[in-house]
Amino acid sequence: MFVLGIETSCDETAVAVYHANRGLIAHTLFSQIATHAEYGGVVPELASRDHIRKLVPLIKTVLAAADLQAKHINGIAYTAGPGLMGSLLVGAATARSLAWAWQIPAIAVHHMEGHLLAPMLEDTPPAFPFVALLISGGHTMLIEVQGIGNYRLLGESLDDAAGEAFDKTAKMLGLDYPGGPKLAELANQGHPRFKFPRPMTDRPGLDFSFSGLKTFTLNALNETGQSPQDKADIAFAFQQAVAETLTIKCRRAIQLTGLKTLVVAGGVSANREIRRQLSAMADSANIKIYFPRPDFCTDNGAMIAYAGGQRLIAGQTQNLEIFARPRWPM
Ligand code: KG4
Ligand code: ZN
Repeated sequence: MFVLGIETSCDETAVAVYHANRGLIAHTLFSQIATHAEYGGVVPELASRDHIRKLVPLIKTVLAAADLQAKHINGIAYTAGPGLMGSLLVGAATARSLAWAWQIPAIAVHHMEGHLLAPMLEDTPPAFPFVALLISGGHTMLIEVQGIGNYRLLGESLDDAAGEAFDKTAKMLGLDYPGGPKLAELANQGHPRFKFPRPMTDRPGLDFSFSGLKTFTLNALNETGQSPQDKADIAFAFQQAVAETLTIKCRRAIQLTGLKTLVVAGGVSANREIRRQLSAMADSANIKIYFPRPDFCTDNGAMIAYAGGQRLIAGQTQNLEIFARPRWPM
């Protein structure tokens, strides 16, 4: 079974082909970073227009790379939410139209389920059950995963998501969109100097709160002459605070559930310092830890093809409705 995966929830147009037995066959992606950079963030109207321009050519590219024709595709998986409504509609309408034309099923995929299952695309995938830490631009969640579709929310961010906190702090430090990776680079030049809190770690529970770190960033900025080194030191303090907070909560989730496997996914899981701290914790707690490859931490079509493919293989079907939900609980 060949599954075409389509991801257009935000500022990346991504397409992939996954095969039930042979794994990932081909994937491609166009990033709209250059389009949105001058505005300092994603402009929804520009995003959806660009998805319209890029999606069909990318589908042709990926089919050619996979050496497949339309007639070989057995199902289509598309991101139906959460995300920007206009962007989601481009993917949903295209997927549904192709499915109708090709007389094959199409299935709506939850974007965060895609992220959650991205590590399954690696050569040594995790085995169920596991604890998943999902850290992206819109979500920060700890989930107990018993199997595909069997999820229990253990904790989530009560305010800013981890990636959102990275992006907002980066903006305060004068870094360009998208700020998260740039802040991480700057933090590499930083030294221990400022003391930022580890929010909500001093009380029980698995929820997060990152919005207060903005105040610490602002105060630290105001204390200094805002030289490049000052900013690097602030970036360092911020990144350490996020990494340590995530690590403390993951250790707690592992203890509470008694599970022996931790899966970390979503855009922020590309962060090297966060990966390092979580891996060290996993080593000392004697548990296994899994990450997607860096390219599959951030948005991609492969994770959508995989997640939808699993549902199609399990026999799930949907009617012809164009299903898109900007807000959609997992
Ligand atoms: O998963 P993703 O590509 O899109 C969403 O579903 O939101 O995540 C994007 C988020 C952005 O906030 C971006 O700044 C952050 O992931 N991000 C990073 C890094 N790479 C991407 N944050 C910290 N360090 C990174 N290396
Ligand atoms: Zn995402």
